[in-house]
Amino acid sequence: MAKIIDGKKISAEIKEELKEQVAQLKKAGVEGTLAVIQVGADPASSVYVRNKKKACEYIGLHSKSFELPEETTQKELLDLIEQLNQDAAVNGILVQLPVPAHIEEKTIINAISPLKDVDGFHPQSVGSLTIGQPGFVSCTPAGIVELLKRSKVELDGKNCVIVGRSNIVGKPMALLMLRENATVTVTHSHTKNLKEICSAADILIVAIGKKEFITGEYIKEGAVVIDVGIHRDENNKLSGDVKYDEAEPKASMITPVPGGVGPMTIAMLMRNCVEAMVTV
Ligand code: GUN
Repeated sequence: MAKIIDGKKISAEIKEELKEQVAQLKKAGVEGTLAVIQVGADPASSVYVRNKKKACEYIGLHSKSFELPEETTQKELLDLIEQLNQDAAVNGILVQLPVPAHIEEKTIINAISPLKDVDGFHPQSVGSLTIGQPGFVSCTPAGIVELLKRSKVELDGKNCVIVGRSNIVGKPMALLMLRENATVTVTHSHTKNLKEICSAADILIVAIGKKEFITGEYIKEGAVVIDVGIHRDENNKLSGDVKYDEAEPKASMITPVPGGVGPMTIAMLMRNCVEAMVTV
């Protein structure tokens, strides 16, 4: 029987801590504002954006919302980002991804001031993480480290296998686990002997976007299993990248889907926003 890592509870604790910090900052006359930009009306993006604005309100930050039409040009979006970069009242800038195909994602990410890059996607933020300098860290991997630490999982010297090498999760995850002195292996779609590698992991972090791909055979007895995936079936039932019913009996700890990694992403975004208030 695995212990369930309750991301909902841990994220709620973090938001309470941040709320307290924001109240203290307010007393000292410091206010925070997150600018949230959405281009187009992708329904999933709209849900994420709404939740981010709600979290701001909950912890006591202002949010400034920009809901731009699908036809917005890249130039118009860049002009808005530049205006927000210059606006001293704005501490954090977030452009919800994906952006429409006529806008180049990389150009948009690069345009956000690294001082306001609360998503941690700017090359300067990623570079700083790589060489251990201060900077914003991508929210989902930062949330996973927080889940592990608050669940008292020892990371130092542990064998950590990451499945997936995306810029948003896999790669920064590897850097964060290295920073914690874990021995890190990053695997991906071209990896040979994936099952063998995964079944040697003390900590297995899965972010491949393939529903229930990781079965019980991939998991070492007593491993800690972190599932980043989220998939909705035709009956609206949610599942992850890990086959939970097979993994749970073998793992010592496991994150559920939903209620594991998901809630941590917004909590870490809020933490980055509070950091932006004190560092800008
Ligand atoms: N789209 C999916 N996840 C994210 C995220 O963490 N940040 C932004 N900006 N867009 C996303």
